[in-house]
Amino acid sequence: MDDLPGMQATNLQNLPENYLMKFWIYHAATWPQISFVAEDQKGRIVGYVLAKIDDESADKGEVHGHVNSISVLRSYRRLGLAKKLMLLSQEAMADVYKASFVSLHVRKSNKAAIGLYRDSLGFEVVSVEQKYYGDGEDALNMRLTMKRQS
Ligand code: ACO
Repeated sequence: MDDLPGMQATNLQNLPENYLMKFWIYHAATWPQISFVAEDQKGRIVGYVLAKIDDESADKGEVHGHVNSISVLRSYRRLGLAKKLMLLSQEAMADVYKASFVSLHVRKSNKAAIGLYRDSLGFEVVSVEQKYYGDGEDALNMRLTMKRQS
């Protein structure tokens, strides 16, 4: 819970999609194992991933994780932090919730994030959601199938 203001501040600096504190609290309280932060040497938050488990699909017996938001402060980029945050979250989704896949939405123009998801982590584009964002930009709906654990 102590990390939430730092996560929200990082989100406000990095992305136009921002959320009320109650949204951050809801995620941390409901699925505490699957969101992570990156800190500098002084303990200040420089990156985060905020994730949830999809309740609808859980009801149908197919659990999947969803990454709501990830960002890293500009001066800490290209150090592998986002990749590490994503891998920690994916691992926890599989271990704790037995998630079979991870989904997310990303702006069609967001080359850095698409590079991270597709080239670095192996996500695939499932569909394009027209005018998904408030300013009318399309979203790529991306998905990564989890490897089955034996
Ligand atoms: N251009 C192309 N590929 C990139 C870029 C870039 N600018 N940045 C990262 N990648 C890819 C590369 O494959 C990279 O591997 P490499 O460095 O070995 O080539 C790989 O992603 C891993 O990079 P990281 O260093 O882990 O990524 P970083 O910590 O810099 O964070 C992020 C990437 C989160 C997209 C960052 O640029 C950021 O905060 N952007 C603004 C916020 C944002 O767009 N968030 C995602 C929105 S979608 C959503 O939240 C679901």
